[in-house]
Amino acid sequence: MRDSRETFVNHAFVVGHPIKHSRSPLIHGHWLEKFKIAGSYRPIDVSPAAFPDFIANLKGEHRSFVGGNVTIPHKEAAFQLVDRPDALSEELGASNTIWIEDGRLHATNTDGHGFVSNLDERAPGWDRIDRAVVFGAGGASRAILQALRDRGIGEIHVLNRTVGRAQELADRFGTRIYAHPMEALREVMGGAGLFVNTTSLGMDGDAAPDIDFGGLASGAIVTDIVYVPLKTPFLLQAERQGFATVDGLGMLLHQATPGFEKWFGVRPVVDAALRQVIVEDM
Ligand code: ATR
Repeated sequence: MRDSRETFVNHAFVVGHPIKHSRSPLIHGHWLEKFKIAGSYRPIDVSPAAFPDFIANLKGEHRSFVGGNVTIPHKEAAFQLVDRPDALSEELGASNTIWIEDGRLHATNTDGHGFVSNLDERAPGWDRIDRAVVFGAGGASRAILQALRDRGIGEIHVLNRTVGRAQELADRFGTRIYAHPMEALREVMGGAGLFVNTTSLGMDGDAAPDIDFGGLASGAIVTDIVYVPLKTPFLLQAERQGFATVDGLGMLLHQATPGFEKWFGVRPVVDAALRQVIVEDM
């Protein structure tokens, strides 16, 4: 028999494969406690083969869930399987946040929101720039290009080892996005106000290529989606050359806020206490 009190408790999940490294349970757990919400947020490991059933069951067997996050490798499948992906997911072909509304499964993608909100918080006014340089052309790069374009950044230059992948993104995301091979680095850095690393280079102490940030505009900002370590090789190099940097932890924290609000009805805040929770777990 179901405990009648359970009907008032909202349950959410993060689903991935593997899932044990996800920091999302720490983030949502912190907010649930902070706002004294009698809800839960749990990690669930689901293989790609079992994922379609997992999604179908959200309206059946698993209907105690109000929604959840979707992470690697299921973001594309989630977009395909929900009833109502929003326009952001549609363009990216990937969703990371799901909720049930009027008996239907809805989805969005909050990675771009996380990226711009981190810059808005830590470098207000960052968007008064004419040119941005984005290094990398994978899944994270897509969401960032979409967000930079939607913020109205004039020119966005994508540099990638495999220039064809950068070209695909340029073709897909807009006329003021330009693709380049790595050799064009010096040329595209000239006068740029923002450099973003969207690759995993430099993660967990791995080596990263040397990048000369010298050509960036004065006052330019260098940011990284990698947040372990907080000071990545790219950020350390940029600081040595006198540029301001924004670490990637805030992107992770801010991408979580829209989901929490959908599932639990409270708009959470990203603050120093939350950052500390994640830093202590690193
Ligand atoms: P994600 O979806 O997490 O962004 P991805 O699709 O595997 O991951 O993309 C990884 C990005 O890192 C790509 O831009 C990749 O460059 P390629 O498109 O040429 O593969 C880039 N990358 C990974 N390892 C790299 C390396 N050693 N040197 C340069 N770029 C690298």
